[in-house]
This record gives sequence, C-alpha cells and structure tokens, in this order.
Amino acid sequence: MDSFLKLLEGNKNWAAKKIKKNPTYFEALVNIQTPDFLWIGCSDSRMPADLVTGTQPGEIFVHRNIANLVVNTDVNLLAVLDYAVNSLKVKHVIVCGHYGCGGVKAAMEKTDLNHILNMWLSNIKDIQRIHNDELQNIKDDKQRYDRLIELNVMEQIKNLAKTSIVQKSWKEKNSPSLHGWVYSLHDGIIKPIIEMKPNTHLNSYYEYNFD
Ligand code: CO
Repeated sequence: MDSFLKLLEGNKNWAAKKIKKNPTYFEALVNIQTPDFLWIGCSDSRMPADLVTGTQPGEIFVHRNIANLVVNTDVNLLAVLDYAVNSLKVKHVIVCGHYGCGGVKAAMEKTDLNHILNMWLSNIKDIQRIHNDELQNIKDDKQRYDRLIELNVMEQIKNLAKTSIVQKSWKEKNSPSLHGWVYSLHDGIIKPIIEMKPNTHLNSYYEYNFD
C-alpha cells in the first residue's frame, strides 16, 4: 500500500470513531470557529499543536513554519496573525519552539543548505549575534543549543509585539497576551519561557502612534 493511502484510511477510521462517539461532532464544528488561541509552532512533525495540548478541532488557530519564526516581511504569517487577532479575536498568541529543533541547529552549525533555507535561518543567526555574550558563556554545546532555542522563542515574541497588528489590538482591546513556550520531545512537556501582557512597552523605536 502506498504510504499516502494510509492517511486516507486513517482519516476514514477517525471520522467513523468520532461519529460513533458523538453523532453531531462534525455538525457542531461546521458553522463555528471561535478559537481563543493562535499557535505559531515549528513545522516539525513531532509537535502537532492540538495533540500536545490535548485540544480538539476548533480550539486553536495554527500557523507553522521551520523554527517557529515571526518574520516581519512574511505575508503568510502576517495574514494569519491579522485574521486571528482582528477577526477571530484570539485572547492568546503562542509561539512554541522545541528542544532539538533542526532549524536552530542548522543555523548554529553554519551549514550551507541552499539560498532559500539560508535566508530563512539567517533570522536565527541574528539572534545569536544579539545574545552573543550569554551564549558564549555557556561552555556545554547541548546547553548552548537549548538556550538558543529558548532565546529564539523570546525574540519571536518580541517580533510579534513589534507588529502594528498586535500594538493596535493592545491599544483598542487590551488583547492578546503573548506566550513563548518550548516543547520537549523527550517527555512531551511544554516549558513556559516568557509571557508578554498587552501594552508592554517595547524599545520606543518600535512603538507606533495610532491616532
Ligand atoms: Co523545529
């Protein structure tokens, strides 16, 4: 059997199981989508947002990319953020990285991947430069790698706060809160790293005046 057929087979079994347990399961989800959360996670196949948080379809709006980056020219991410904040009115935006992230590792190891991946991962090289002193003081390679994964999540939270989408929503609705988390592939546990409440002040260079 072709491996992709396994997915369609699995889908049929899953849908049948849901209907058996609750005959109106899908009907109830068709007409409403009111998630409280936007999840920005790594594309890594080992950390599906709903499974690791024990949530159901309808509860989390999801965007994933390599190394869970918030890049201020990424139209895809900004469209997701805009829709989540202004239309769905999510209360929380979560950036969730994970220890053992291959994207972060590649950026650390100076590997030439190709132009596109190099360009994408250069965002993580910037984080190494910004936090160079702290990272250089960590002698153990594994600990330095883990710390860069945490710092990456912290910087992505700041990148969210730098957007006019978030700042305008903070001013008008005092929402959403921003959360930076790191998931462990070893024990499945999420570690909260940073929480940024609405209207937290940034470096003033990044703050917009809305009139
Ligand atoms: Co990853």
